[in-house]
Amino acid sequence: NEFFTKHKDLSGKKVLITAGPTHEALDPVRFIGNHSSGKMGIALAKECHERGAAVTLVLGPVPLPQVYDGITVIKVTSADEMYQACHEHFSNAAIAIMAAAVADYKPEIVSPKKIKKTDDDVPEIKLVKTKDILKSLGAIKQENQILVGFALETDNEKNNALEKLKTKNADFIVLNSMNDATPFGSDYNKITIYAKDGREIAFSPKPKTEVAKDIINTILNNHQTETV
Ligand code: CTP
Ligand code: CA
Repeated sequence: NEFFTKHKDLSGKKVLITAGPTHEALDPVRFIGNHSSGKMGIALAKECHERGAAVTLVLGPVPLPQVYDGITVIKVTSADEMYQACHEHFSNAAIAIMAAAVADYKPEIVSPKKIKKTDDDVPEIKLVKTKDILKSLGAIKQENQILVGFALETDNEKNNALEKLKTKNADFIVLNSMNDATPFGSDYNKITIYAKDGREIAFSPKPKTEVAKDIINTILNNHQTETV
């Protein structure tokens, strides 16, 4: 019965997805992080699983407990751990989607003990860059692998998204528009997808479960050009 059977157009394919924030430790009790809820990447993982893919979800520390039936979840904390897990699972992935909000910087030194407050001075925390996971996968990507990145921008959206598409050697960049309709933690998202082949597809705001379908349909359909 076609009405009840989901189209298994990803069956036999491996899909690697990152989701959530990363936490970069300062000391045993503190970290640098961000507000990513992980909802977009989790919705993508579920969508790919329902379409028959073998999904590996590399998941940063997200606040909400979830059921991930049938999905291989690798829980990580830091950008370094996420990088490691992604490189372990990229080589046989047909599709890799980097939806995580990876910290761009981490403290150079992680104090083994809780940093104590002192009366006289304020600590200076030296930051160093984390590795760019998407860019590192773009550098080793094979012809038959599809690599998808996200971009969250507040200004100069299109140029920044196109720049990320190029510098990270991605096949698609999903631009997340930050606006009143889609605040952090929202179940809704408004996206525009930029493809390496020049396509630009704008979507209306919709639930992240629907956005996940739009993203997967777009990367599987090389001829779609209309605005949906
Ligand atoms: N990304 C990544 N590893 C990082 C930083 C980002 O894999 N260390 C990925 C994100 O998962 C996303 C894409 O790169 O798919 C773009 O992330 P974004 O933060 O928008 O871009 P940056 O290159 O970090 O640049 P900026 O934050 O300055 O906009
Ligand atoms: Ca960033």
